[in-house]
Amino acid sequence: MGLKIEGVGIYLPKKRLTNFDLEKMVDTSDEWITTRTGIKERRIAEDETTSYMAYRSALSAIERSGISKEDIDGIIVATLSPEKQFPSTACLVQEKLGLKDIFAFDLSAACSGFLYGLEVAWSMISAGRAKRILLIGSEKISGIVDWKDRSTCVLFGDGAASVILTNDESNSDILASKIYSDGSLWELLYAPLCGYINMKGRELFKVAVRSMEEACRYVLDKAGLSPEDVDLVIPHQANIRIINSLAEKLNIPEEKIYTNIHKYGNTSAASIPIALYEALEEGRLKRGDIVLLTAMGGGLTWGATLLRF
Ligand code: ACO
Repeated sequence: MGLKIEGVGIYLPKKRLTNFDLEKMVDTSDEWITTRTGIKERRIAEDETTSYMAYRSALSAIERSGISKEDIDGIIVATLSPEKQFPSTACLVQEKLGLKDIFAFDLSAACSGFLYGLEVAWSMISAGRAKRILLIGSEKISGIVDWKDRSTCVLFGDGAASVILTNDESNSDILASKIYSDGSLWELLYAPLCGYINMKGRELFKVAVRSMEEACRYVLDKAGLSPEDVDLVIPHQANIRIINSLAEKLNIPEEKIYTNIHKYGNTSAASIPIALYEALEEGRLKRGDIVLLTAMGGGLTWGATLLRF
């Protein structure tokens, strides 16, 4: 039996913050941000909390799956901007959904959180510990960036996306998956408790391309496939130059790479499932397609998942 993504849902805050808005806040320019990152605007949560955005995206995924919320056995929320020290954001989502007798926990793997979540959910479902898991990436990064630091505040955005995962007799499956970490590099990207994001951008850039290429090659090799077999790559949306360098190294043409970074910036754990949702909506992704997901983020953590959608 394979693993199937039954439904995807998103929630994006209404408030848009453009590069031109940022020009009025810090010493930056639309030209600098666009050429260095590919970002034109990002969404900013106002009243919305991390659990509220997660909950709204979950409702949308449940509706699109055609399941009843009572069919969910557990909730995993991947986030680097949890709502509280504790309880987990996942427990707050459980309360909002009104579900009882299920498990709920958060997963901390920064921008790789969604891929880590897929690996955990897949393992639990394969082991028969759960039949159906709600996996959410939800981020309110606007609350943990220093709005006076131009080197970080222009990069990130808020939002959430959910997937419903289950096993069934369909053709969908994870063909190969691999997650990695290297704690010795934690200082390249971190936020202290109750503090702001610190980042060594230039060093991260190089590690990001190298590590995602390594992970992508590993899963392709494991599945006995080559880059030409991939129908769509959905990379973590951190920087268009990182994405383009990765595509070049893997020799995958631009039309097979999904990007929406210009609209949302880096939404960390929410970035891949938001892109998955939009790729589906735009008809870029259909059942049976071979999809390569890859991410890298604070930890450092990175990984890749190859799936038949
Ligand atoms: N506007 C204008 N100038 C800026 C800004 C800004 N927003 N930010 C930095 N600068 C200046 C710097 O001060 C520096 O000026 P100086 O030369 O006078 O010292 C100059 O621009 C160049 O700065 P660099 O940091 O070297 O610029 P770089 O080309 O490396 O681009 C960036 C910076 C966009 C952060 C890039 O390094 C990057 O994307 N790195 C990856 C980091 C990342 O994506 N992190 C997110 C999480 S990790 C992940 O998800 C993969």
